[in-house]
Amino acid sequence: MQLSITNHQLYERWLTLLRRRNSGDLPPSPPKLPIVGNFFQLGPLLHRSLASLSAKYGPVVLLHLGSVPVIVVSSAELAEEVMKTQDCTFSDRPPSSIASRLIYGSRDVAFASYGPYWRKMRKICVLRLLSIKRVQEFRSVREEEVALLLSNIRQRLSNSPVNLSEMLVNLTNDIICRVAMGRRYSSDEMKSCKTLQEAMALLGTLAVKDFIPWLGWMDELSGLNGRVRRTFGEFDSFLNRVLDDHIRCAKGDGGINGDQEQVDFVDILLALKEKDEFGIDFTLERESIKAIIWDMFAGATDTSSSTLKWAMANLIRNKPLMRKVQEEVRQVVGSNTKIKEEDIERMVHLKAVINETLRLYPPVPLLLRQSRQDSMLHGYHIPVGTRFFINAWSIARDPKYWEKPNDFKPERFLNNCVDFKGQDFQYIPFGAGRRGCPGMSFGLIIVYYTLANLLHYFDWDIPEVNKEEVLDLSETSGITVHKKYDLVLTAKTYKP
Ligand code: HEM
Repeated sequence: MQLSITNHQLYERWLTLLRRRNSGDLPPSPPKLPIVGNFFQLGPLLHRSLASLSAKYGPVVLLHLGSVPVIVVSSAELAEEVMKTQDCTFSDRPPSSIASRLIYGSRDVAFASYGPYWRKMRKICVLRLLSIKRVQEFRSVREEEVALLLSNIRQRLSNSPVNLSEMLVNLTNDIICRVAMGRRYSSDEMKSCKTLQEAMALLGTLAVKDFIPWLGWMDELSGLNGRVRRTFGEFDSFLNRVLDDHIRCAKGDGGINGDQEQVDFVDILLALKEKDEFGIDFTLERESIKAIIWDMFAGATDTSSSTLKWAMANLIRNKPLMRKVQEEVRQVVGSNTKIKEEDIERMVHLKAVINETLRLYPPVPLLLRQSRQDSMLHGYHIPVGTRFFINAWSIARDPKYWEKPNDFKPERFLNNCVDFKGQDFQYIPFGAGRRGCPGMSFGLIIVYYTLANLLHYFDWDIPEVNKEEVLDLSETSGITVHKKYDLVLTAKTYKP
């Protein structure tokens, strides 16, 4: 039976276990300070700090973040236990006051608590928005947007460098705008990527209020609350405009989609609002529609652009590897004028590059879970409501599974049946189990197709002026991790 529990009750239950420390039923835990607990051991790159703690204390570590106990899991075996064997027990998401304020009380899919609401929202996502059929229907959007990217690069060429990082963020942004909302939105209309980047940075921030409630006022003082209010306001007014335009258009009132034939996600969701096609006794409220669109937007843009940036950053550091992949892509495409998505199947080196990129740089390095009932893990008692960080980043660099784990070696995937579909727990860039990513096919085809085009049509180089920054593989902090310095590169058009 599922129990519900407050933070305070959870703390009390862990205290009881702490008092019984000798019985050995508590996971190892680094020393903590009063009030802040283990916060002082965490740096801005949370996945790296947690990996260092796990290297010292083992694959299950108990941390106290303020007054909140958190279990850090950093082995494939235990990740499997949490996300497969006991998936049902551990399939809740921890509450986040920031997510709640940014995404309509966590009415989306990614941050919603496990339960009937989440199940219905997820069903809508999986069956109506992100099915294989739907992904195929939006093929022309991907083709047109990638063609535009190539033409923008060509225009700026004549040996002046292009900021590929910026262009890739714009590309993924425009693709998801068209798929989800029917058309491209200019940066003026939606304050564009800046708002999204700020939102993703905020979602990766730990609010003091969530961990030390009586010090919650510090979030106001530090400016965190102000940033959340501003970002919510900008996104919300943008999403309101999008919905109103669609509703006007559906009423034949000259909205934005007047001449548009292809339905977009907002059309699909608005139709569901009118008619309960699922027979699931569920009314899709306006706020829920905005929350799903929010998820689609954040889920697709940030993850795909991050993967593309890391892939190009690693290829540009290894010219022989880049040439090898280019030769493959060019040989598969042959004399055709355009790359077709079906061609990707025959580009085994290109796919191995993406596999290796997702291994070393999973865009979402930490998977969040919360237990829904009292349980046992690895011989330890886990009270209901305990939060989990599963460190997908450090698991994918575990020398137990990966030879030279920190080296970028795509060839390791050539004769290897390990894949990212959520069954091989040493490699879980899309998560696994009930809360695993429903947008995997959509994200992957954007990434494969874009990379194939970049490598087919251009030969890339690093301009002398930016060399250090381009080669620097430092990361940004946030719920998704990006390359910190932009990829400013030169490109020459390839002539066969
Ligand atoms: C390279 C691309 C992508 C990567 C690496 C990625 C990765 C992830 C990861 C790691 C999770 C958490 C899984 C877990 O907790 O087990 C997740 C969840 C999610 N992703 Fe993705 N994702 C990608 C693309 C997309 C796209 C294109 C969409 C939608 C358009 C999307 C929508 C979602 C949603 C809605 C969730 C929440 C699922 C839930 O809580 O039930 N993702 N993704």
